[in-house]
Amino acid sequence: MTAYEIILKKRDKQELTKNEIKMLVDDYTAGKIPDYQMSAFLMAVYFAGMNFRETTDLTIAMRDSGTVIDLSMIPGKKVDKHSTGGVGDKISLILAPLAASLGVIVPMISGRGLGHTGGTLDKLESIPGFNIGLSISQFQQTLKDIGVCMIGQTAEIAPADKKLYALRDVTGTVESIPLISASIMSKKLAEGIDALVLDVKVGNGAFMKSFERAAELAKNLISIGENSGKSVIALLTNMDEPLGKAVGNWIEMRESIETLRGDGPDDLVELTAAFSAYMLILAKPELTYEEAYFRSKANLKNGRAYEKFLEIVQRHGGDTDILADLDGYPKTKHAIPITAKSDGFVLSINCLEVGMAGVLIGAGRRTKEDAIDYSSGIMIHKKVGDRVIEGEILATVYTSIDDQLESACQKIEQAYEIGFNAPDKKPLILAVMDRNGFRDMG
Ligand code: URA
Repeated sequence: MTAYEIILKKRDKQELTKNEIKMLVDDYTAGKIPDYQMSAFLMAVYFAGMNFRETTDLTIAMRDSGTVIDLSMIPGKKVDKHSTGGVGDKISLILAPLAASLGVIVPMISGRGLGHTGGTLDKLESIPGFNIGLSISQFQQTLKDIGVCMIGQTAEIAPADKKLYALRDVTGTVESIPLISASIMSKKLAEGIDALVLDVKVGNGAFMKSFERAAELAKNLISIGENSGKSVIALLTNMDEPLGKAVGNWIEMRESIETLRGDGPDDLVELTAAFSAYMLILAKPELTYEEAYFRSKANLKNGRAYEKFLEIVQRHGGDTDILADLDGYPKTKHAIPITAKSDGFVLSINCLEVGMAGVLIGAGRRTKEDAIDYSSGIMIHKKVGDRVIEGEILATVYTSIDDQLESACQKIEQAYEIGFNAPDKKPLILAVMDRNGFRDMG
């Protein structure tokens, strides 16, 4: 079968065989299938979907496009976390050092910004010199030495995802359960983990807008992982407003550093501690959730998580001077305040619009070739439920890019809905799922 015939078959909603899926992934990775044909295929999957068997075959083909890392020589449980993508979602930056500071081995392979959502790799690279492209042997050695390593897909690890991810980012083909499942799980199955905690985001800033779709995605991710012998827990979390206050790359890194130094916004601290607690009980099942949560919060306050973060930055060649002087980071040309047009309460913040505004000011990519402007970002001063008075600053847009600045500011203005009555706040964690379905959250 040619790529053309496979595209037609999927376009016409037919089931693909394992060999067809493997051929497509291998030939695309090898550069034998051009981006325009792969884009058409991705769009066909977006509309026609894939069943669980096809999704699993796609995941395994993507995993096997590179090496499956062996970490058996490192004692201890290896546990990672991955998010399906959100706005202001900087949890991994804090969580990896936090969990490692508690004795969990954290082999983390992350992605770049995707669509309107930010990516851990871009945020890490906002630290000058930070190298996310370590070789497999450097990855293994770093894990042995400091218990944590944060890298991206490479020519050796899930290279098919590296190429497909970049293509999906700019072709409107992200919001697809089979494509997200295969993208996430191909990386996770390649990194040599024993267990995984997933953050499946739900809401206007997530790829899954409804709870039902998010639960379906979580079920797929859990089943793929468990069928490969990994213990998987998924938390369905609210993404109806940005997490924390900062949206961008350096601005999110800075908020993460402040959180690691014990001074983070409540929602970010709570959620990060919850993820850390789940990672810890997967690594050390003798602990209760409450004990694991308590230890996680303590290490955010007592400096141990921050010390581990410094070790990570040093090992990856990052500039630690910039961390000692956060204000020394390059300033943006513009800092535009977005103000409230009336008195009231913030009823909602459309985070898709906030994320798209971020893309317009260079915090994300519009084409595969776009470079990121690390200092561009949006600071959210007012969150859902906050009282505001007319003229008060809701958010500030930071950038040095003039082009599209006005449209970006308009998007932020329109993202805010202000009304008379205080809204009900949704919980941060909407549900917890494992291989048996929904867990009782007490
Ligand atoms: N994270 C990934 O790694 N892939 C996706 O498709 C979405 C989020």
